[in-house]
Amino acid sequence: MLPQWARDKKILLGISGGIAAYKTPELVRAWMKCGCEVEIILTDSAARLVSPLALSTLIKRRAWRDSDLMSDELGWTIPHIALSEWADVLVVAPCTANVLRMAAQGDSGTLLGAAMLACEAPQIFFPAMNSRMWANPATKANALTLEERGRRVIDPDSGPLACGYEGKGRLPSTEAIVDETWFSLCGAKDFAGKKILVTAGPTHEYIDPARYISNPSSGRMGYAIAAEARYRGADTVLVSGPVSLRAPGGVRVINVTSASEMRDACLAELHDCDVIIKAAAVGDYRAKNYSAQKIKRGERAFAAIELEQNADIARDIGERKKRRQILAGFAAETENIRENALSKLEGKHLDLVIANDVSAKDSGFVSETNSVEIFFSRKYAMPPISVSGSKWETASGILDAIAAILP
Ligand SMILES: Cc1cc2nc3c(=O)[nH]c(=O)nc-3n(C[C@H](O)[C@H](O)[C@H](O)COP(=O)(O)O)c2cc1C
Repeated sequence: MLPQWARDKKILLGISGGIAAYKTPELVRAWMKCGCEVEIILTDSAARLVSPLALSTLIKRRAWRDSDLMSDELGWTIPHIALSEWADVLVVAPCTANVLRMAAQGDSGTLLGAAMLACEAPQIFFPAMNSRMWANPATKANALTLEERGRRVIDPDSGPLACGYEGKGRLPSTEAIVDETWFSLCGAKDFAGKKILVTAGPTHEYIDPARYISNPSSGRMGYAIAAEARYRGADTVLVSGPVSLRAPGGVRVINVTSASEMRDACLAELHDCDVIIKAAAVGDYRAKNYSAQKIKRGERAFAAIELEQNADIARDIGERKKRRQILAGFAAETENIRENALSKLEGKHLDLVIANDVSAKDSGFVSETNSVEIFFSRKYAMPPISVSGSKWETASGILDAIAAILP
């Protein structure tokens, strides 16, 4: 389930005649899985590279073609006006050098051209082409013109290109396009100009080269917070323990393994952060004596692995943070949730604590959903807030709570 702002969105997809057009059915499916409605306009060249029939089957409505500019199928309703008014966002993917030019020049000679000109919703262009075409000053100038007018032009990825070249020109991944769509659709930019540091995932405390002490944290909660913070305009840094999740688009990720690496990474970023959200499940203990060689089965060292405590990162940040900085921590508890959360709040100089019952089925480490109660420090005189739902919805609620106390 998506947060409220992302529900029931209407996406107008312009597909132009780049080879990457063959990837668009996957993109359409990804949006539809999130509950979006999709309308499509294909240029006539695009219709040679991807099947309009396959696309219209997926979206369960006709896929429009450039040549439908003068279509009377909707009676007296004019297709390019109706489509551009309907859309919450217009995405052109892949965007050819030609369609980029048309958009920059306001060329309305085709259905897509006229819809781009008429559409007042946010517009995002994903240019994809041969690397020389992309590097050409004519293309660069068109991209710049669009950006100066408030359109978003997303740089292509680098790598092997279908034309046989290697370089910048690839269509970004489906996940990246979906990420950028959410960024444009998220109207609230209440964290613009703020730097947010989020920690996520477990830590691995190695005993020997083959074994470590860890916990079942999936990292999903922290990743959802980082993604949502970026959608809401924050310059977002994610310090992540080992997880198998895709890095959220537009978020700088610092990968770490152990608690001590996570502490170093957080302290190095701390000075210019406005908000620090500690969602990682940091290991409390590590092996006192790391064995450089794999400990053999039955060896004495195995039976008595001596442990020592890791530094408490939240407390260390709490002691160093400036007054204007907001520090939020999680309290993963299995009993006396409220009491334990409140004692963490005071003991670690947190501004707010997000308490969750990790023993509950629909909450905690590996679950897709979460249910939390947010307590504020006395300084704010705010009553506790309960948030539950998908980890994404929970992330949204946590950021709402932080936005309410942002200086
Ligand atoms: C097989 C093939 C692949 C093409 N791939 C691209 C491409 O990736 N990017 C691009 O800008 N042009 C590409 N072109 C050139 C465009 O199709 C051509 O400029 C066309 O006029 C674009 O029409 P449209 O912008 O109306 O879709 C390709 C052409 C062919 C024949």
